[in-house]
Amino acid sequence: MPLSIAILAAGLGTRMKSARPKVLHSLAGRPLLQHVVDSCRALEPEQFLVVIGHGADAVERAMTEQGLVFVEQVEQLGTGHALQQCLPQLAPGNDVLVLFGDVPLIRAETLAQLIDCRGDAALAILGFEPDDPFGYGRILRDGDSVVAIVEEKDCTAEQKTLRECFTGIMLIRGDCVQELAGRLDNDNAQNEYYLTDLVAHAVADGEQVVASLAGDADEVAGVNNQQQLAALEAVYRARQADSLMSHGVKLADPARIDVRGDLRVGRDVEIDVNCVFEGSVTLADGVRIGANCVLRDCIVGEGSQILPMTSIDDARLGRGVSIGPYARIRPGTDCADGVKIGNFVETKQAQIGQGSKVNHLSYVGDTEMGSGVNIGAGTITCNYDGANKHRTVIEDGVFIGSDSQLVAPVRIEKDATIGAGSTITKTAPAGKLTVSRARQVTIGDWAKPKKKQDA
Ligand code: UD1
Ligand code: MG
Repeated sequence: MPLSIAILAAGLGTRMKSARPKVLHSLAGRPLLQHVVDSCRALEPEQFLVVIGHGADAVERAMTEQGLVFVEQVEQLGTGHALQQCLPQLAPGNDVLVLFGDVPLIRAETLAQLIDCRGDAALAILGFEPDDPFGYGRILRDGDSVVAIVEEKDCTAEQKTLRECFTGIMLIRGDCVQELAGRLDNDNAQNEYYLTDLVAHAVADGEQVVASLAGDADEVAGVNNQQQLAALEAVYRARQADSLMSHGVKLADPARIDVRGDLRVGRDVEIDVNCVFEGSVTLADGVRIGANCVLRDCIVGEGSQILPMTSIDDARLGRGVSIGPYARIRPGTDCADGVKIGNFVETKQAQIGQGSKVNHLSYVGDTEMGSGVNIGAGTITCNYDGANKHRTVIEDGVFIGSDSQLVAPVRIEKDATIGAGSTITKTAPAGKLTVSRARQVTIGDWAKPKKKQDA
């Protein structure tokens, strides 16, 4: 049966106390709505609608180029009203899977189960049993059959004690979507058009409604306030940590790692506390990451180690490389095998050849460096003339003395040595010592200044 999906995402989310539309709040670095969309992909829907309203422009911009059809709900009159906005767009006869943009951790397998359990029923709803049902719609049963969903604000005292709640996710049989949704009204405590009233209408028509129960309450928990968002972030973090450990990664503390993107790992990888991984990161066999590192979009080769407090962004590191502590590896850094980058070193757009060392307090930018180079402490590549960037070329086997400035564009030829404290503006020839500083003199008749006595 071809499937249409409608994600409801038009609400402001008043309880978030934020100007940003709720579905754009980020969980593990991705908007809530993006999580829902990503989970739905596996179902290969024929139609993929997203109902937007509050901050519609911002939501559309954040979710652009993903094949989504945006349906605007100009006034947010309730979840049922949101579905009604989709009716003219829905492909006739398609089953419709409705999801909420604020239930982010739903998994594709659970959705597939819901689809399987509908059978001939008009509706299949996904329920769960939260620790605290407050705020959720309660599922009313008569024996095994579902007869209604009652919202918290419309519940009698007795109904409030019911544990089985609605997740916001339901599947509607294709032939009855238009008719059932068209009939919704706003005769309730909140004067809203409730999606949940579809259940009572279907039952009144003599149709069957089935409920499938989600085993994991966290997976279907909604985000309505900052507390719930933080709680789901912790759930997500725990899932990621668990999956890494299942792949053999040794985590110093599974509660203190944040994976906000796609982290791929080899064997015997060790990660110390408080590390953050963003974008696409690959750690090859035997990589060790020290405490408090942030790694984004990078590949770390076999046996390399990243020492504490290091930031790496858009870089490629070879095998047996050592970076940090306190290093900042910026976009376009490419370190060959055995490179060593030490403390308080910043690199950017730099190719660093095999076994080269930049151990202390240096800036290496827009640089092509050969192999076996040793860069002394405090060396700066002066790549910017105030208007344009220029390149520095450092050939194989070069030794740069401490506290030198290489004013680009400039070339240091193979096996050259630069004396400490030099400012190099011209090519330094191969195999020679180049120095550019005043000769050291000692002043014979100099005397230490004396402190003046007060009169
Ligand atoms: C809703 C359900 C409740 C369920 C709970 C699960 C209804 C009436 N209630 O309550 O039974 O237990 O979710 O989390 O459906 N939205 C729109 N347009 C609107 C109103 C809401 O698109 O006019 C969207 C919101 O952006 C949000 C979703 O629908 O993504 C749910 O809205 P929300 O206000 O959070 O509903 P709840 O009160 O949580
Ligand atoms: Mg909600």
